[in-house]
Amino acid sequence: MKTKAIYPGSFDPITFGHLDLLKRSCKIFEDLTIAVVVNPHKKALFSVEERVAMIRKVTSSFSCIKIDKFDGLLVDYARKINANVVIRGLRAIADFEYEFQMALVNRSLNSRLDMVYMMPSVEYTYLSSSIVRELASLQGDVSKFVPAYVEKKLREKFKYAR
Ligand code: PNS
Repeated sequence: MKTKAIYPGSFDPITFGHLDLLKRSCKIFEDLTIAVVVNPHKKALFSVEERVAMIRKVTSSFSCIKIDKFDGLLVDYARKINANVVIRGLRAIADFEYEFQMALVNRSLNSRLDMVYMMPSVEYTYLSSSIVRELASLQGDVSKFVPAYVEKKLREKFKYAR
């Protein structure tokens, strides 16, 4: 069977950690969809449309990638687009428990779906979108953590210049 992978997440905003994982994933998967979750219960900094636009901009050089958004269950979205692999990043041990739970719940809902976990480069193991949001909200320098375009969007959001 042909492998079709999804890389789901909030991507609020996309960081160098996500891009590191995408680079690794593109070496393994030819058909990869970045799927931005639409979660009305979670307050996001960027709208789904803004997040998709940022992802589109900073992944334009990746030929293996499609970009989409989804609501509801990940397993239902996977069924809809005929995906059989879900890619997730594992940074520190702290990620493990949530990811383990999610993998087993998703598998119990759809046994055709396998989760593939990848470790980012060591310099991104501590990096998260929430840390980037906090830094930017306090006008900290995020240039080491996100592409210049995302940095610009963060500055616009929090109305500061560097
Ligand atoms: O980037 P995030 O916030 O860690 O991504 C989490 C995400 C979107 C992968 C997860 O919340 C998800 O799959 N949401 C869709 C709803 C769902 O399927 N929930 C059950 C997971 S056990």
